[in-house]
Amino acid sequence: MWADFEALSAIGSIGDGGVNRPSLSTAHLAARNWFASRIHDSGLELRIDSAGNHSAFLACDQPGAKTLLLGSHLDSVPHGGRYDGALGVLAAFEVLRVVKEMGERLLLHLEAIDFTDEEGTLVGELGSLAVAGNLREESLHSPRGGRAALVEGLARAGLSEAGLLAARRDPTSLAGYLELHIEQGKRLLNTSSKIGIVTAIVGITSCRVIFTGQADHAGTTALLDQRNALRGAAHFAIGFWEKLEQDFSRCVGNIGNLQVIPGVFNIVPERVEISVELRAPDISLLTRLEEMVNELSHRMAERFQLGVSVEWLDRAEPVQMDRIFQDVIVNACRDLGFAFQHMASYAGHDAQALASICPVGMIFVPSVGGYSHSPREYTDWQDCVNGANVLLEATLRLARGDLG
Ligand code: GLV
Ligand code: MN
Ligand code: MN
Repeated sequence: MWADFEALSAIGSIGDGGVNRPSLSTAHLAARNWFASRIHDSGLELRIDSAGNHSAFLACDQPGAKTLLLGSHLDSVPHGGRYDGALGVLAAFEVLRVVKEMGERLLLHLEAIDFTDEEGTLVGELGSLAVAGNLREESLHSPRGGRAALVEGLARAGLSEAGLLAARRDPTSLAGYLELHIEQGKRLLNTSSKIGIVTAIVGITSCRVIFTGQADHAGTTALLDQRNALRGAAHFAIGFWEKLEQDFSRCVGNIGNLQVIPGVFNIVPERVEISVELRAPDISLLTRLEEMVNELSHRMAERFQLGVSVEWLDRAEPVQMDRIFQDVIVNACRDLGFAFQHMASYAGHDAQALASICPVGMIFVPSVGGYSHSPREYTDWQDCVNGANVLLEATLRLARGDLG
């Protein structure tokens, strides 16, 4: 697993410990090709579905057996870390190689899967939503990464929108989904626990807030005469963070990008597009956050005589992890002697999309410093191995039908 981790980390490496493998970029596709060749070397079966999800498959000999999915994603955020997603795919792959070597007869097929665009460079949880049969055509028409980037990426990968929309699996063929991931926060570090057992994943929604004013000469147009889109956007941003701090202590929100048009020193900005993301542990809070963004953006538009539109993009609802799967992971930790704790995830994961069609469970390992979505992301290798062992043990328990 270490050799694989080293080899994978070199693909899209940006030289400062991080990787740049945005979904369907050349580097991401190179990582997928590498994974396919490693699957080939292992003697496991390679499967690629019409959403581009890449899998290693290990069949059992039980007639009518279901498949237990294990996995994560090989794409990264732009200038991201080596562990986010990669660890889960490599650990899943290693589990299949170990089980194959053991030669034990199990009750489930096992599949180690790398999902397309978990990170949402284009759409977000694209491959897992497709498998769940919940990918909406609108998400492809107005993806949060922009339509042009999606069309380009699909062409580069040899994928099609029709293929994405046809990748649904029959839920009755699935026994569930298990994922190992780095925690991406500091909660495990602050305790003596080695393993986090995820209870729930927050809801995530994103939108583009667009202020429109008027381009004018920056020298000759008095401030009071300007219809400056950036002024509205700036006041929106300040108001957004104040609201989060005052009224939404259990939620998080982010303004990740501001596009100022025409973006020139001596022209009053005519148009500003703001990328906003909101996360909340329950649906009513998520809805209140969305209302806050709508209200605030319209108030700022009125104040600064601007036009405004709020374009809502994808919404992943908060989900609970399966109780039985959580207990299986608890038992796996006990077998292996690892201290554990239950925790909610404020990061999104493919388990969120799959929860609508099968039981899901997630295992977290500590992130040094809590850093993630950054080249500073780091997890001690021993913790990665511990997590992979918990994944193996939990998989064996499920695939033996031993849930006690
Ligand atoms: C995925 O990592 C996300 O939470 O944005
Ligand atoms: Mn991830
Ligand atoms: Mn991520």
